[in-house]
Amino acid sequence: MSVLIKNGHVVTASENYPADVYIEEDKITAIGANLSYKADKVIDAGGKVVMPGGIDPHVHLDMPFMGTFSSDDYTTGTRAALFGGTTTVIDFILQTQGDSLYNALRTWQKKSEGKAIGDYSYHMAVTDFNDKTAAEVVDMIEKEGITSFKTFMAYKGALMIDDGQMVQLMKVVKKHGGMVTVHATNGDMIDSLIAKNQAAGNRAPLYHYLSQPEVTEAEASARFSDMLHYTGCKGYIVHLTCEGALNAVRSATQRNQTLHVETCIQYLLLDASLYEQDFDGAKWVMSPPLREKKDQAALWAGINQGLVNVVATDHCPFTWTQKQMGKDDFAKIPNGHPAIEHRVELLFSEGVNKGRISLPKFVELSATNAAKLFGMYPQKGTLAIGSDADVAILDPNKKHVLSAKTHHMNTDYSAYEGREVTGKVETVILRGAVAIENEKCLLEPGFGKFIHRNKVS
Ligand code: URP
Ligand code: ZN
Ligand code: ZN
Repeated sequence: MSVLIKNGHVVTASENYPADVYIEEDKITAIGANLSYKADKVIDAGGKVVMPGGIDPHVHLDMPFMGTFSSDDYTTGTRAALFGGTTTVIDFILQTQGDSLYNALRTWQKKSEGKAIGDYSYHMAVTDFNDKTAAEVVDMIEKEGITSFKTFMAYKGALMIDDGQMVQLMKVVKKHGGMVTVHATNGDMIDSLIAKNQAAGNRAPLYHYLSQPEVTEAEASARFSDMLHYTGCKGYIVHLTCEGALNAVRSATQRNQTLHVETCIQYLLLDASLYEQDFDGAKWVMSPPLREKKDQAALWAGINQGLVNVVATDHCPFTWTQKQMGKDDFAKIPNGHPAIEHRVELLFSEGVNKGRISLPKFVELSATNAAKLFGMYPQKGTLAIGSDADVAILDPNKKHVLSAKTHHMNTDYSAYEGREVTGKVETVILRGAVAIENEKCLLEPGFGKFIHRNKVS
């Protein structure tokens, strides 16, 4: 099968020019002006942006969490991602405390194999570090192509590890060429604020927000940076939300430390005023919570300063029925929200169209940096000869409205209900196969492939 994409505006993290793209089988084999190759399929991309398929390195599919499971599985989640121009996701395997990393890996393989439509890889969440885990970490890097290790500084009793375990993990991961990533919030502080609010009878979603003030994230981000600096390990802070945490990263750079930062689309666009309503605020109960307008400004600035490297989603959807688990107690609302489908279009609409970021920066944030940081570049994350033919074609002028009535995520509410977006992903190609066309998904469960990742350079 060959595909010729004609007359488009090709955008990568470093270039931005009119060109045609030629695909043979699963790879890009030519990029240039006026290509005249014969092709099985010709797509006219006149007036459209032709970009690498998006990479969302922070999603939770079919994840057991807070007494339930996130409502998108590998089929519905990767399909929704494709509709929004994201061709590869990195999901989180959760080690069960007291159990092995390999058992957790097998559990996630059962969730994904034969079910994923889009491509995927795994981060391994280490929730219980000991000598046995240390040996398995080495095997994950050397044999399984899993080179990033997620840690939680919160969710005590379920996912959190202590600082001693963190430092030991960093030493092993550094030695073998991996990356430690972190949910950086101070779990003990948060747990005590939750308990205080519960005791005072403060049960509404607003108290989820009030139990996780900015300082809990700023403190943990600084502590994580210090532990990385001490061990020399490579590190990445997931879902960074606020000015205080960003300033902790900024301080680390003053001692010439390199530290990678991800924010998520919701922290750039939504703010904590959404919690000032009754139970409806549960739609945005996530951790860390949405912040203030001044934090959005800090994050946009951080993007252009090169401090924020990736825009992900932390897609962890629940249905409205699942959210009712916390009707009488904010601490029981499953944390997370649906976003996997909207990240690329929202970042284009609010970032590029509103003049906050350039087109190449948009590609860097939505695809290229994740591929580079997590050992998939240049197979993924760019349009180049020899790269996987993962392509999103976006109409930059097409307006559309986001709604639960039309989205493809397996949730019955939208975090962006009624929001108008300028820019629509119309055609998506995954490894040379047309995945999305005329608002239909043309690929079946099982098409999605596990991406074995390289060591982090
Ligand atoms: O609220 C969130 N973020 N849910 C998913 C788990 C996590 O902390 O990333
Ligand atoms: Zn988290
Ligand atoms: Zn997450």
